[in-house]
Amino acid sequence: MRIAVFDDRSQLAAAAADIVHAGLPEFVGRALGVATGSTPLAVYAELGRRAAEGTLDAAGLSLIALDEYLGVGPADPGSYQAYVTTRIAGPLGVSAERVAVLNGLADPQAECRDFEARIARMGGVGIQIVGIGANGHLAFNEPGTPFDSRTHVVRLSEQTRQDNQAAFGQAPVPQYALTQGIGTVLEARRIVLLATGEEKADAVARALTGEPDVSCPASALQRHPDVVVLLDRAAASALPDPVLV
Ligand code: PGA
Repeated sequence: MRIAVFDDRSQLAAAAADIVHAGLPEFVGRALGVATGSTPLAVYAELGRRAAEGTLDAAGLSLIALDEYLGVGPADPGSYQAYVTTRIAGPLGVSAERVAVLNGLADPQAECRDFEARIARMGGVGIQIVGIGANGHLAFNEPGTPFDSRTHVVRLSEQTRQDNQAAFGQAPVPQYALTQGIGTVLEARRIVLLATGEEKADAVARALTGEPDVSCPASALQRHPDVVVLLDRAAASALPDPVLV
C-alpha cells in the first residue's frame, strides 16, 4: 500500500487525476470504477479539464459506479446516476451506454444480481476510485459487512445518512441503498483511496493500521495487492507515521 499525504486538496486531486490518467493504458478493456461522494469531485473536474483541452482521450472508457440509493431513480437529480452523468461521463465524453449505475427503482435483488453480470460484461474494473465513510464504510458497505460480500441491499447507518443529508436538502435521506459488496470492490485491479478532512482521520487510521476487521469495512483494502492512498494532512493526522511521497 502506498500512502501519500498532501498539504492541499487541489494537489491531492491533481495527483489522483495523474494516477487515473497514467494508468488507463494499463487497463484497456476494463472500466474506471467511480465513487460518487464529495471527495473525488475535484478529481473528476480535473479529468474533465484534461479531456476538454485534448490531453486525455476518455471517450472509449466505461464507467461503473459503486452504489445508489434505493427508491431514487436515474432521473432524480440527487441520484448517483445523475452525479455520474453530469460530473463524470459528460465532461469526459463517455456515452450513456458505457455507464453502469445501479438502478434504485428496479427490483433490488434482481438488480444486484444483474449488476454483477454487467460488471463482468464490461470487462471488470481496472482502476477503482473509492472514498471512506467517517464510520469506515467502503462504498455503502457499513460496519459488519463481510469482506466477501457481493452487490447487495444495505440499510444505511444513521451516521451515513446524516453525512449525506446535504445532497437531499430538506428531504429525508433514503434508509436503504444498493451497493457493490466488499468482495466486488476488491476485484478491481488497482484501488485509489481518497480521504480529506479531520472527520475521516480515525476511519483512515483504522482502515490502514492494525488487523483488517469487519468493524471497519475499508480495512479490507489491506488485503488488496495494489492500493494507493491519497490523504490530506487532516485525514492523515491519526496515522502513527504517515509515509510522505
Ligand atoms: P465523501 O464520501 O467523499 O462524500 O466523504 C465518502 C464515503 O462516504 O465513502
